[in-house]
Amino acid sequence: MRINQYIASAGVCSRRAADELIEKGRVKVNGKVLGTMGYHVQDGDIVEVDDIRVEPETKKVYYLLNKPAGYVTSTADKEGRPLVTELVPDSIRVFPVGRLDFNTSGLLILTNDGELSNRLMHPSHGFNKKYLVRAQGIVTRAEAARLEKGVDIGGFVTSPAEVHLIKHDRNSTLAEIVIHEGKNRQVRRMFKAIGHPVLELCRTGLGNLEIGKLAIGQCRKLSPAEVEYLKRV
Ligand code: URA
Repeated sequence: MRINQYIASAGVCSRRAADELIEKGRVKVNGKVLGTMGYHVQDGDIVEVDDIRVEPETKKVYYLLNKPAGYVTSTADKEGRPLVTELVPDSIRVFPVGRLDFNTSGLLILTNDGELSNRLMHPSHGFNKKYLVRAQGIVTRAEAARLEKGVDIGGFVTSPAEVHLIKHDRNSTLAEIVIHEGKNRQVRRMFKAIGHPVLELCRTGLGNLEIGKLAIGQCRKLSPAEVEYLKRV
């Protein structure tokens, strides 16, 4: 794509105005002032106007992050706590899709694709959300069955879920739960409702996306097939 078209499609100005910016030496490519109007932007080029990076609106990026506990799922925080967006090594601004609590870790999608984000967060979505939970005390099969059937979490009865009790020690139980809704602090409220407050919570799956072996605090780009999947569901 020609440089003037690139700048125009980033919403900076018209193509003609972009030519003028180039003439005035206000456009840099990969850190160098551009000397020619006919330049064709290559993949990986960093284009700046007045030292601010510009990207065509169409360039969408999609990341899967293994969020650590102790990070806020937001692009800003009044209290100055660490932000999940700081863990994405891209100069393109991304935002989180949905929310994980400050103390929850695990799978989080970040993107600059507002349309996809809106669709994924719509309540009608019913996406599987899989969590690994360490809950206080020993959760019995009968209590797990209550979670599976639906529990009142305060003015709302949860819809059917799947619960797999993995193991327990004297003080806590490790379980996997799959829910299809996304009420605020839903998993914590569900376990509290059966008398076993959550000690640790990690989201391990979202639809058919899995956190896999991605290290905590690391992120990776979604593959084209994964992006297609998210757009399809
Ligand atoms: N349920 C919760 O309670 N917390 C989360 O962060 C996600 C799901």
